[in-house]
Amino acid sequence: MTILDIALSDNAGPRYKQVADQLATLIENGTLSANVRLPTHRALADQLGVTVGTVTRAYAEAERRGLVEARVGAGTYVCARETNHWTFDTPHSSQLECHFGYNVPPLLDRADMLNRAMQKLAGNPATLNQLMLYQLPEGIMQHREVLAHWLQQQGVNLSADRLLFSSGAQHATQMALDAYCRAGDTLLVEKYSYPGLISLARQHQLSLKPLEMDDEGIIPESLDAACRLYQPRLIYSMPTLQNPTTATMSLERRHAILDVCRKHNLYLIEDEVNGLLPEERPDPFVNLDSEQVIHIGALSKCLAPGLRVGYIQVPQRLYEQMTTTLQNHSWMTSPLLTGIATELIQSGDAVRVLSQIRSEMKVRLEITREILGDFDLRTSESCFHIWLTLPEHLRLGEFVTAATENGISLKSAELFVPPGGAVPPAVRLSVSSPANRDILRSGLLKVRELLEQEPTGGFAL
Ligand SMILES: Cc1ncc(COP(=O)(O)O)c(C=O)c1O
Repeated sequence: MTILDIALSDNAGPRYKQVADQLATLIENGTLSANVRLPTHRALADQLGVTVGTVTRAYAEAERRGLVEARVGAGTYVCARETNHWTFDTPHSSQLECHFGYNVPPLLDRADMLNRAMQKLAGNPATLNQLMLYQLPEGIMQHREVLAHWLQQQGVNLSADRLLFSSGAQHATQMALDAYCRAGDTLLVEKYSYPGLISLARQHQLSLKPLEMDDEGIIPESLDAACRLYQPRLIYSMPTLQNPTTATMSLERRHAILDVCRKHNLYLIEDEVNGLLPEERPDPFVNLDSEQVIHIGALSKCLAPGLRVGYIQVPQRLYEQMTTTLQNHSWMTSPLLTGIATELIQSGDAVRVLSQIRSEMKVRLEITREILGDFDLRTSESCFHIWLTLPEHLRLGEFVTAATENGISLKSAELFVPPGGAVPPAVRLSVSSPANRDILRSGLLKVRELLEQEPTGGFAL
């Protein structure tokens, strides 16, 4: 008979739930594999010193979560695991040992909170009927008020009557480029920038000009020189947990950047999709000068990317053009989704998830530093990714190929460099992305092994 490694505590909540949670852990960490038969209700009840009813409830809860199944007349069995992938499955991803490819929040069980949020909406027919209607492009005022209030609590001063919902930060950026840029315009960017922005710029036929960076991000003098040289239309920047370098600008630097923008009458797109992740960070640009800043954010990194709820606030002068652009794109962001997001914020679940993400990232970054700490590594508190400069003897292309051959997916620096720029010998690893800490650890050990490999010494003719 299987003896399950389950320990109950008097002050850890209902016993059936403790059993179900610990079953989940045993299944998640591989101790219980697919098709293993669990002890009978009576046997587990005796082992744990609880009633048979408690075990029945625990198994029912585990079944509800899709972990186990009751087979008629045969007992309760561990289900064959449908691996939860953070991202869409590609034909190759199932063969990967470790996926460091995407900046996604660490895997959390958000089924219950989504269930509760949807039930709450479902309980109110008047609300449901409203969600089925066309709304103003900027979205339902009550939803905007809840979001704006929550963001203010997180230190971002947006106002409900100015912000607009979008389908994520990527969409908000697309709207900004659609609204304010024309083909041939110049867009200033950090010299290593977000690939999604580089792709949008290509589609809009914009010319990207790189700005020099130091440990804090954009150097103000480089911005000033580029403004004089190129007469840019806009600047795009990620002041907090920059993607890919992890840099966060100090408050002083933010003021200096805004001074240059005002001097050249240049609007700044602030991509703060990572802005809520660190517990503390300097004021976002929008707090310092909301008339100079197009602020973009989303619930993708701090709550759930699948919700596709983002937001944008633009200077007053640009507001009308932005609502028209949103209307041109999709009339409005789905009120059903903003309604769910509103429920998740109001119930306190959004804050809980954010705090779980922060704690998980703390552990993951400790594991990362423990394994790769003696290499040239940039990390930052709560940052999903790390930026790793390769040892001198390694070539970027060869390293990325070797990683792929060893089942490791990571991003080459090439993807972050605007066209024509010099590619540094670096890679981005999203340490938030592996499905659990064990996979993270084994993936990092493999990366370490590859970093330590001796150069082959051969040269191609
Ligand atoms: C810097 C940056 N901006 C925007 C996005 C897109 O966010 P969303 O999923 O909300 O569209 C990402 C996603 O990785 C990102 O890293």
